[in-house]
Amino acid sequence: MSSGGSQAKGRVARQTHVGIPPSLVEEEHGREAFAGPVSHLYRSQPPTAWVEVDGPLRPLALDLNGLTPGDAADPEAGRALVLANEDLRVEVSRLAAPMPFAYRNGDADEVVFVHQGSGVLQTDYGPLVFTAQDYLVLPRGTAHRFVPAEPCFLYVVSSVAPASRPDFGLLGRHAVVDPRVLVTPEPYAEPPEDWAADADGRWRLRVRRRGQWTTFRYPHNPFNAVGWAGDLSPYRLSVRDIRPVTAPGFHLPPSVHTTFRCGAFDIATFVPRPFETDPEALRVPFFHANVDNDEVIFYSRGHFFSRKGIGQGWLTLHPAGVQHGPQPGAAESAAALEGTSEVAVMIECRDPLTVDDGAAACEDPAYTTSWARGLGLLD
Ligand SMILES: [Fe+2]
Repeated sequence: MSSGGSQAKGRVARQTHVGIPPSLVEEEHGREAFAGPVSHLYRSQPPTAWVEVDGPLRPLALDLNGLTPGDAADPEAGRALVLANEDLRVEVSRLAAPMPFAYRNGDADEVVFVHQGSGVLQTDYGPLVFTAQDYLVLPRGTAHRFVPAEPCFLYVVSSVAPASRPDFGLLGRHAVVDPRVLVTPEPYAEPPEDWAADADGRWRLRVRRRGQWTTFRYPHNPFNAVGWAGDLSPYRLSVRDIRPVTAPGFHLPPSVHTTFRCGAFDIATFVPRPFETDPEALRVPFFHANVDNDEVIFYSRGHFFSRKGIGQGWLTLHPAGVQHGPQPGAAESAAALEGTSEVAVMIECRDPLTVDDGAAACEDPAYTTSWARGLGLLD
């Protein structure tokens, strides 16, 4: 795979991501996301400046505010599917009223990012109070019930492989997310009274397994565990407690923002952070060819410094095989600011994702050629 030893030919920056000649842009062409064999190409035009795309492969942007999941009006109904492959599903819930049943996912761990709303997540292990900008992590097989205090917008990533937290190696055990900020539930002394039985006197537990649904009915409230012990449980992580790693003189790859490792994919969180201060250091993400991964970003808060025309609640998908990078003007905007205010959730996955039809209807067709338009190459 490697051409044998690092080489430099033609006009290049003296160091990667540092002192890039002003007339050139840097593109990373690498394997294994940002960890494998890699070269940098120094181009006179951004690789994303295409003016026309013919065929199925293109970057796309979806305004997920336009999705209407069934659970928005009826808590008995389901979420809206956005993207899926064999390893993961991305769904949106707009739950506004308490779930009248408990739910257990027998297929996958669930990493729920609370984009909007607040409430209580009742679980087998006890309750977790949540608010916007929290992650709620539910190991496969955890019965749970969302009780919103206000209408919610939940961005739900289901992972067939266990969702674990990354090892930051030389940065130590407390880097980025100190395990002490993770909140686990206290068990119920008594089953929660706010969940009444159905008219038939039964409490329902709905289980998803192999994509099929089964309902178990109990003559009592199934949240009846009065204690738990062990190292597997649901937990809450507030995005406000993430302490991002940055470097004054070097633009670190997005992989340093990894929050969860899920086998064939990673979930990263971009949070507000200062820009690089060294005048020669790159401040915006480099262009990259993304040859091994599909990349999904959900934008939740703040101004996303490398994209234009993307609002809160939007999602972009950059499939493997097509380059992407900062929008025209992003470097100039970044130069005028001290940091970024963004909160965004990124998925990088090995296998290709399929966009569900309902989500595809939310596409902004202008995004595909937004780089060319930003450069004045298109009207
Ligand atoms: Fe990327």
